[in-house]
Amino acid sequence: MNVLFIGDIVSSLGRQAISELLPQVVKEQNIDIVIANCENTTGGRGISVKHYQELKGYGIHAFTGGDHIYRYKEIEEYIGNLDIAVPLNGDKNLPGNRQVTVDLGEGEKLTVISLLGNALMKAEATNPFQAIEELLQRRNFDHPVLVDFHAEATSEKKAMGYYLQGRVSAVVGTHTHVQTCDEEILGNKTAYITDVGMTGSINSVVGVKKEIIINRLSKGIKDKFEWEKNGNYALSAVVISIDTNKQIPKNVDRIYLTSS
Ligand SMILES: [Fe+2]
Ligand SMILES: [Fe+2]
Repeated sequence: MNVLFIGDIVSSLGRQAISELLPQVVKEQNIDIVIANCENTTGGRGISVKHYQELKGYGIHAFTGGDHIYRYKEIEEYIGNLDIAVPLNGDKNLPGNRQVTVDLGEGEKLTVISLLGNALMKAEATNPFQAIEELLQRRNFDHPVLVDFHAEATSEKKAMGYYLQGRVSAVVGTHTHVQTCDEEILGNKTAYITDVGMTGSINSVVGVKKEIIINRLSKGIKDKFEWEKNGNYALSAVVISIDTNKQIPKNVDRIYLTSS
């Protein structure tokens, strides 16, 4: 089973990247299941129901959340019925599915889980290691599991990869919006990458118009964030081939496909 995991889809150029580049990747890489992090899809923060449906229409089976997933109030009403895995260790009072399973039949099945990091993150979250431990103690998965660890610190992410080595099929990092080149299969058991990178504007600072961030950092001018809507874009992802019966990854390959 070939799984494509797409890093944070950011704003309009992120959605454009999906519509223009996803069909090619799915075809060339022989993809069975497509998962994407959707926490920045609408206006750079959160996702609207309309954009959820748009992305579903491009062939994405399920999504993972992050620190901005509840940004739009409307999503709270519907999120329990959508294929979005909200952070397992997020606020328990907020709605949503803590696990989402994509089942293509004939044993082709994948469960997706989202975890929020604790280090350098503003979002309210309990300890991600304890949260996933509690779930894995409680539930014995008979099929592959992919964990999206949405976190800032590379050390916390690497530690999570080793913590889950041999216990889930893949640990993929998101949130920094910058792709790392450290993909590997930990102990021949768990596919890992520190950060998949973002899907959206290339000519920006992690999706935001670069002038705004430069002015903020160099002169202390706090202009409202505006997300870059023009220029080139990239689709950042990993392809993970999994032996479905053994729940073991055979391969993990990085993808960084650009519009030009
Ligand atoms: Fe993000
Ligand atoms: Fe994030």
